[in-house]
This record gives sequence, structure tokens and C-alpha cells, in this order.
Amino acid sequence: MKPLRISELLATEAKEQEITVYGWVRTFRNNQFIALNDGSTNNNLQVVVDFQNMAEAELKRITTGAAIRAQGILIPSLGKGQTVELKAKTIDIIGDSDAEKYPLQPKKHSLEFLREIAHLRFRTNTFGSVFRLRNSLAFAVHQFFQQKGFLYMHTPIITSSDAEGAGEMFRVTNLDLNKLPKNETGQIDFAQDFFGKSTNLTVSGQLEGELAAMAFGNIYTFGPTFRAENSNTARHLAEFWMIEPEMAFCDLQGNMALAQEMLQYVIGHVLDNNKEDLEFLNTRLAEEEKQKPQQERSEWSLLEKLQFCLDSDFVRLSYTEAIDILRESNHNKKKKFQYLVDKWGVDLQSEHERYLVEKHFKKPVILYNYPKEIKAFYMRQNEDGKTVAAMDILFPGIGEIVGGSQREERLDLLETRMKEMGIHAEDLNWYLDTRRFGSCPHAGFGLGFERLVLFVTGMTNIRDVIPFPRTPKNCEF
Ligand code: 4AD
Ligand code: MG
Repeated sequence: MKPLRISELLATEAKEQEITVYGWVRTFRNNQFIALNDGSTNNNLQVVVDFQNMAEAELKRITTGAAIRAQGILIPSLGKGQTVELKAKTIDIIGDSDAEKYPLQPKKHSLEFLREIAHLRFRTNTFGSVFRLRNSLAFAVHQFFQQKGFLYMHTPIITSSDAEGAGEMFRVTNLDLNKLPKNETGQIDFAQDFFGKSTNLTVSGQLEGELAAMAFGNIYTFGPTFRAENSNTARHLAEFWMIEPEMAFCDLQGNMALAQEMLQYVIGHVLDNNKEDLEFLNTRLAEEEKQKPQQERSEWSLLEKLQFCLDSDFVRLSYTEAIDILRESNHNKKKKFQYLVDKWGVDLQSEHERYLVEKHFKKPVILYNYPKEIKAFYMRQNEDGKTVAAMDILFPGIGEIVGGSQREERLDLLETRMKEMGIHAEDLNWYLDTRRFGSCPHAGFGLGFERLVLFVTGMTNIRDVIPFPRTPKNCEF
């Protein structure tokens, strides 16, 4: 008999059919009713135990957390809250769980506590929903690009380049740290290191993605990236997953259009396919919001927010226009920003981004044409000599979710910019080759996958949307 998943069972009509299920006990009441969960849904299957015909010692082993197999007949349920239940003929304990020691008691635990037992938190309703949604979003990302004919490209994890030029890299070495080899000038001799040079974990697959786009046209990456930025915030991870499409023969406008289409596609996908989990998280968030003071509560429920993002065009606004709005805002005049907006050229802080999205427009916003001084070397320089064809997408409650640009395809301008920014051309000769041989306008962006999951699940801390978060001073599991 093929065992069925509980999500399937709960959707079947009970016709006294024999079935087998496997799962973990969530609760066991009155020595009779097991709430059984197998991770396919938050809805448990009620298993009714024939306790009169079961040995006392065996009954005692049905405890919260235990893994069991139940065989019996699926019948229409008389109890409230479920349509079917399993009238068990046999229960086999596959893995015991000492109820006294099991850290997950059947009660509400704080997210902070659950983070400390991240190896077990998958077994809670909240994290069940979060990680089923994460899975669905990853699938939808691939489906979106595959349907559009983009090629999935695997870019390296270990590299010798700093794609963003921001220097926030984790070093990769197998040198003996207690006996570092030195060269004549007293510096560490990386020629003796594993790769014969200094290497690090990638901060972005973009540069290699560009190489591939210059042959395949449209590509995307979807892989782990690493940043040693010491920002202990609810939106930063040291290890996160990024999706980076790159398109040849594409400009900034086309780039913005693709980013909006992709975000709306994946949000639409989960609204269609993950209703139950979204409804669970919607209720969860509504309860959280009730704890907050009135003025801090969100105007929208999670589901309304998602639907709204799906239905509305994102606002497209240049950096210059954004600065004007911020400078003239009452918020700025009343000095409510921690960083006041006084002049063109300043980098926007997340308080500014959130003001634009949540207060001013109340819509997702795409900001474009940023000052070149605050952006990476590879972005295409605009005619004005001051700005580059960059774009960031800002989402309510999240801030920046996407960062991208049209790339500088003109060799001379790129080389000049690299020199100005102190980036050695000899290290990036392979990259410059694409500008030497068949260069063309191209553009792409990076979507932080966890920020997307954060938005879709309504969770508030990025540590709660990746299975095992890596953050400063924390690398458990
Ligand atoms: O804006 P970023 O740094 O852009 C790039 O890396 C480009 N190479 C992308 C490209 O054009 N192909 O990062 C892109 C996105 C951000 O918008 C944000 O969503 C996410 O990656 N991100 C992080 N997410 C979690 N933790 C961090 N420390 C992140 N840093 C960036
Ligand atoms: Mg960025």
C-alpha cells in the first residue's frame, strides 16, 4: 500500500478505504486522539487510536515528537475541524521522543527561542508555512525564466574577483594560519596558497553571468552569495541566495520591466498555489499586529499587500526626483529622519526608501539613475556625466529587494571608470574581453531571495526565512 501524504488525504473523500501514513506526533489527547503531521500541510490528520486493544507500554510511547506509522481506515470525521480521520488498526512507533526532554512543547514559542533550535523549528506551523513558501518561490523563479527561454548558469562560488568592488569578502584559504608564508616584502605569500593566489567566496555571480549572456543572450543564476558586511540587521545575512538574470541587447527600461514581471509572476504563483500557508501566515501576522500600538500597525493584511503588488504598476522614479520629494517632505523638514536629506548625491538610507514606498507612494518603487559615486564600477554612464543607469526596487516593509543596472559596454569608458575607482584592469582582463570582442548593450539585476521570502511570508526577521542563518557571531548547525 503506497503511503499517502496528509495534504492529499485531507483532500480525499473518506470511503472506508485502507490507508497507511507516516508522520510525527504533534499532540496526543485522552489516550485516543493523535494529531499527526508529516510536513505536507499545517493541518494535522486526526488518528483515532483503538486504545482498548493496545498495550499500555505502547500507548505511552505515543508522545509529542515521536515518529510513527499508522494503518487503518479513512472515515468521515464526527469531530469538529476536520472532514476525515483515520481509524487506526495498528500504530507502529518508528522513533521515540522523550516528552520530558523534547524542546518543542505543544504551546506557542517565541521566534527567538525557535531560532536557537533551528534544527527542530521546521516542525512548527509557522516554519512549515515559511519553508513550503520558500520552496514554491524557488520553483516559480525557475519556471518564470525557463518559460522565457533564459539559460540557468552556474557561476563559481570560489573566485578571485570582488564583483561589487566593495571588499566585503570572506577569504578562502588552506594556508596554515599559524605559519603564514611571507614574501620578500613581508606580506602573505598567496602564491603558496591552494589556488596560487588570494581567493574568496563570491559576493555576486554577475560578472561571470555577463560573460555567459554575451553568448547565450539571456541567462540567470540562482545560487548562494556571501558578504562579510558587519550589519546586524533584520535584513542582512552573511550567506544569502541571489537570483541574477543578465540580458544581452537590453537596456535599463527592459531591465526594469523584466524585474517587475518576475516579481509579479512569483507572487502570483504562490497566491495560486500556496493559499493555505499564506492564509495561516496572514492570520499570524494579523495577531502580531494587534500587539502593536495603533500608529505602528500596517494598513494592510499580508494577503492584501501581496494582491496589491500583483495588481499595481511599480512607480518609476529617478534618483533626482526622489531627492526632491524627500527634501521637500514634512518628514525631512520636521527633522524626523535620522539622516536629513540636504543635497543631491547622498546615498539613500533605508528610512528614506521606506518613506517613499510606505508613506509617499504606497506602492513598490523603482528608483533609477543614481549618482555614479555611490554605485559600482560596471554601471553604464549616462550622458549627464553624473549618473549611471542603475536601478533599485524598493518594497513596502523591506526596502531594497532588487539592485541592478545597465552595464557599461563601451571599453574606453569602462577602463577609465575602473582606473578612477582603483580597480586593476589586469585582474579583470577576462571581463574586459567581452567589451573587446562583440560588445553590446546589456543589463541585469540581482534579487535577494530571502528578502523576497520575507516579503511574501510577512515575517519580520530575515533569520526566520532561511533554514540556518549565518550572521555576525553566529554560525550554528
Ligand atoms: O544590490 P546588490 O549588492 O547587487 C549586486 O550584487 C549586483 N551584482 C546584482 C546584479 O546586478 N546582478 O545585491 C542585490 C540584492 C539586493 O537588492 C538585496 O535584495 C540582496 O541582493 N542582498 C542581500 N540580502 C540579504 N543579505 C545581504 N547581506 C544582502 N546584500 C544584498
Ligand atoms: Mg544594492
